[in-house]
Amino acid sequence: MPNVSIAGAPLHYEDLGEGLPLLLLHGYPLSSASFRPQLDALSRRFRVIAPDHRGFGESPPLRGGAPLEMAQIARDALALLDHLKLEHAVVGGVSMGGYAAMALVREDAGRVAGLMLIDTQPSADDDAGRAGREDTARAILERGTEVLVERMMPKLLAPEASAETRAEVERMIRAASPEGAAAASRGMALRLDSKDVLARFAGPALVVVGEKDVITPPERARAMADLIAGARLERVPGAGHLSNLENPEAFNRIAEDFLARMQPR
Ligand code: MLT
Repeated sequence: MPNVSIAGAPLHYEDLGEGLPLLLLHGYPLSSASFRPQLDALSRRFRVIAPDHRGFGESPPLRGGAPLEMAQIARDALALLDHLKLEHAVVGGVSMGGYAAMALVREDAGRVAGLMLIDTQPSADDDAGRAGREDTARAILERGTEVLVERMMPKLLAPEASAETRAEVERMIRAASPEGAAAASRGMALRLDSKDVLARFAGPALVVVGEKDVITPPERARAMADLIAGARLERVPGAGHLSNLENPEAFNRIAEDFLARMQPR
């Protein structure tokens, strides 16, 4: 797995395949490994690039305990595109990765050839949500990422998720650095409302949601898709909040169909 030095700190990423570039931003508190089914299958036809955000997977956390803001993830992703000499990419993000994808559109919409918003939402946290993020950050720093296994596993996956998928998600959560997971929890609390960004976005857009997602449910995905001119909304059967990992066959069909319209055979 290659890495790039951005502002003096290494950022690890996956880069597989050739053709239309698809930059995938992972959710919380996972890593680029959560895109394994897309890296394997979509890279047969497209170039799939997936960084580990700071403090996740193989990327070390920011020094000094600063919050990992969504704009920072976006700027890291843009620096990665610069490093790869890519002017444009389709940008996709799952949940927190979706918040970062919307921050990236705010930073530089001209580099976004298309947008894939997956099991995510455009709203900022309310006061109760922000207080919950701070409570989670402190608990992680005291007790480690096991806190996230306890708090998030009951909600992340649909009941029909396989034991293998459950084990893989737990493994990724435990592998996150406590400093990185606390920093990202605090960074999500600081995110802006992105509805204005979506209302201005003029490129092709796809909204995908697991039909059993209880964190960002289908009705919220519908409302988000309604904000973007011409956006398609697709539901992934039998999947919860991690639709790309829970039902990769259905998810990949939806993604491939969307991407193929931008890169005809
Ligand atoms: C995620 O999956 O990235 C998180 O559920 C996002 C969040 O906590 O808002």
